[in-house]
Formats: sequence, C-alpha cells, structure tokens
Amino acid sequence: MSWLIRFGISLDKELSERFDDLIRRKAYTNRSEAIRDLIRQDLVEQEWLHGGEVAGAITLIYNHHKRELLNKITDIQHDFQNSIISAQHIHLDHHNCLEIIAVKGNPAEVQKLASMLKAVKGVKHSTLSMSTTGKALT
Ligand code: NI
Repeated sequence: MSWLIRFGISLDKELSERFDDLIRRKAYTNRSEAIRDLIRQDLVEQEWLHGGEVAGAITLIYNHHKRELLNKITDIQHDFQNSIISAQHIHLDHHNCLEIIAVKGNPAEVQKLASMLKAVKGVKHSTLSMSTTGKALT
C-alpha cells in the first residue's frame, strides 16, 4: 500500500467552475478522483509518446462476408505476433464481426499495427484504447 499525499490546489474561479462542470459530466464522485484520473491520463499519454511499455486494446468492426478482408486482417496480425497478447472474435449479427485484440509492448509498434488494421478496406470502425504498465521498455 502506498502513502497518501495531500496537497491544496489554487484555481481561479472560472477554471474551478469549468472543472466542477467536467466532474459532473464525467460523473466523478469528487475532485480528488477527477484530478487523479487526469494525472494518470496524462502520464499514459507520456508513456505512449516517449516509449515506455504500453498495453491496450484494438477493436475492429467489419463485414465478414468480405473474404479478402478476413485474410488481410489475419496476415497483419501474424506479422505483429510480438505485440499481440490475444484476440477475440465475436459474431455480432449475420453480417458483422467484432474483433478485440489485446496488445502490449512498444508503443510505436502497437500504433503501427492499429493503423494498418484500420486501413484495411472494409473495416467499418476501429479504435485503439491506450493504457500503460508504467514499466520502462527493456
Ligand atoms: Ni464473425
């Protein structure tokens, strides 16, 4: 268990009101929780920018009737074995598939993989959700 550090923050009135609005919109229970989340979010972005080990998930929605697309998505994943931990395929409905690919490792590689999958013709929607282990790359 880590120590809890308390500190005060001074904000001008306008910024403070906008911050309270944000807290309501995002349904944070209090200001501390909101600030913790913002700090973590920024640290994760820094990890992604400066090359610490990252973890995340790529999601793809595509029409499985397009056989060429399926082959391409599989080929790309085989080329990025080092970044992929696991992949889950879900048959959403008669036409659509959802693929969730768990990724870990070098941020540049993971981002390249996400861009290549997104660029496959026939992929309807794709997201990359970024997180971090906080560990430096070895
Ligand atoms: Ni399917």
